[in-house]
Amino acid sequence: MSSRGLEGVVATESAISAITDGRLVYRGIPVETAVNEGSFAEVAWLLWHGRLPTQAQLGHLEDHLASAGELPRDVVTRLRGLPPTTPMLVALREGVGALALTPQSLNLQSSNLQSSSLQSSSLQSSNPHSSAVRLVGALPAIAAQFYHVAEGRPLFAPRVSGSLAARFLHAVRGEVPPPQEARALDQALILYADHELNASTFAARVVASTLADMYSAVIAALCTLKGPLHGGATAEVWRFLASIESPADAASRVDAALEAGQRIPGFGHRVYRGPDPRALVFRQLAARVGGQQRWLPTADAVAEAVYARKGLYPNTDLYSVVFLQALEFDIELATAVFALGRMAGWTAHILEQYANNRLIRPRAQYTGPEAAEWTPIGQRG
Ligand code: ACO
Repeated sequence: MSSRGLEGVVATESAISAITDGRLVYRGIPVETAVNEGSFAEVAWLLWHGRLPTQAQLGHLEDHLASAGELPRDVVTRLRGLPPTTPMLVALREGVGALALTPQSLNLQSSNLQSSSLQSSSLQSSNPHSSAVRLVGALPAIAAQFYHVAEGRPLFAPRVSGSLAARFLHAVRGEVPPPQEARALDQALILYADHELNASTFAARVVASTLADMYSAVIAALCTLKGPLHGGATAEVWRFLASIESPADAASRVDAALEAGQRIPGFGHRVYRGPDPRALVFRQLAARVGGQQRWLPTADAVAEAVYARKGLYPNTDLYSVVFLQALEFDIELATAVFALGRMAGWTAHILEQYANNRLIRPRAQYTGPEAAEWTPIGQRG
């Protein structure tokens, strides 16, 4: 028997993250602990290597992430050539595509494939995860660069130190962000970093299982993230909250959407039947950052109304949008943040797939006709 949407199907083994009894752990560490104690760079290392980095390893990683953020000229040219109306997730995919064609990436890809094709376990030793580091380091720069293209502003590419989140905020705003905002965004990236076999990660693993290169697998993940049932929900939540004048109008807006047969974006989840633990932390982040928080009471009122009517809890997107709006992001930048964090998880899963690969090739239950005639073209009605 097939399962619609592969619900409940265990499709692979993974040691990277787990959702058990409504809790999310990264390599055994509760996500809340990672958010409170760690940095996004440490979490990326944890996901890739299965252990926390030493101080020296972390310093080395941060240097590599920073240099990956200095985009090759060809990548910037590709981003500048995109129509300003290009959706952010498409721009990210284009940027990664351009990055894949740079000489440095092509060298890395060929070493990936040589080491993974037959003796896949040698990947760990022969390739120090360079493509993964490059992708995680470059994606925020791609997003920030395209943000300026879309806004019709000159490109801004500061060479600054600090965390990946701080550099991203600096590149977007053109000024040094307050430390508490940079820290909160770093924590948001940790919350997004991995989530077991979600749709985009599964897509990445399918591509990796054919031994295609990491850039191709990540582009598949970005394409998958775009849909409104996955990362595209960020934009849907944004529009939904923006359509509500005040918290007092939330319940009637929810009723109108449900009566029209619509789903409320930012609610429901395939795996969690109770609260999504990340939503609770995103709500705390949203409440903590300064600036505008005009959507927090509205989101709370929507959550109350949806629970009362459907018994559904917010997923990660409801309060992440409130948080990102409080950081004064726009809808497109907000959409990018999910991908910036999840790049750590995608690349970890791709490396895990290479390290113990078998082609992912399931079967389909055939529901077509048993036997049919080939009608000559002149006799078809
Ligand atoms: N609003 C209203 N009703 C909903 C919602 C929602 N957001 N989510 C699920 N339901 C209802 C369905 O209508 C269905 O009801 P029924 O049994 O009476 O027909 C029931 O709950 C089960 O829904 P399914 O579609 O079977 O749930 P599934 O596991 O396939 O979908 C999904 C999960 C896609 C996340 C769904 O909850 C949804 O569409 N949510 C809105 C989009 C969204 O927020 N996506 C972000 C997901 S999280 C992420 O990627 C970060």
